[in-house]
Amino acid sequence: MGKVIGLFPTPVMKVDGLISTDLVQAFLEKALAPDRQSNSATDLLSHTQMIDPGESWEYARLSEAVAPHLVAFGELLFAERLNWAIKEAWMNVLETGGSQFMHTHANSFASGILYLTTPDPSANTVFRKTGGGGEFIFKNDVPLDHYSSDTWVLTDVQAGDLLLYPSYLMHGVPPNEGERRVTLAFNAIPHQLDSLGYKIRFGL
Ligand SMILES: [Fe+2]
Repeated sequence: MGKVIGLFPTPVMKVDGLISTDLVQAFLEKALAPDRQSNSATDLLSHTQMIDPGESWEYARLSEAVAPHLVAFGELLFAERLNWAIKEAWMNVLETGGSQFMHTHANSFASGILYLTTPDPSANTVFRKTGGGGEFIFKNDVPLDHYSSDTWVLTDVQAGDLLLYPSYLMHGVPPNEGERRVTLAFNAIPHQLDSLGYKIRFGL
């Protein structure tokens, strides 16, 4: 076979063991506090309020740990080492039997998932290349790890690991056949984008 070039690759960055077991535990306690809101689609998935950055030492440590990885990931998206800020963060609690619909994150460029429990393999995060369209499609079934697969599943995830992905990428969680699954999710933006000197700035 000749040389194969993967055109227009999509970057997804995994950082193993980003935070310590102690910090994972501290976040877990906050996530499991009773003031969560059920997801609009199912009671088996619930979300905490947005984390208030000023009131959480855990969050301060997390954002410090995430910062260099966000800059490196952002360079893959925009070819420049930009100043990145997490604009919102919250936690998700997925009970046994629960799932998360495929979705994207609006008003954001890079999103992250920090795993606070080691997910059951049935509930690994799934990414899809497209969300469907308005035309008929002919296709041949291909395995998930095939070059032409339109689906990608993150495997080998442990509590404390971080995943960064472009916010436009469709993702979801299949029905959880294992124990309760807890994650912290966040959205991040760079301070600005520059197109031939025309700068679009974000933030306050
Ligand atoms: Fe999400």
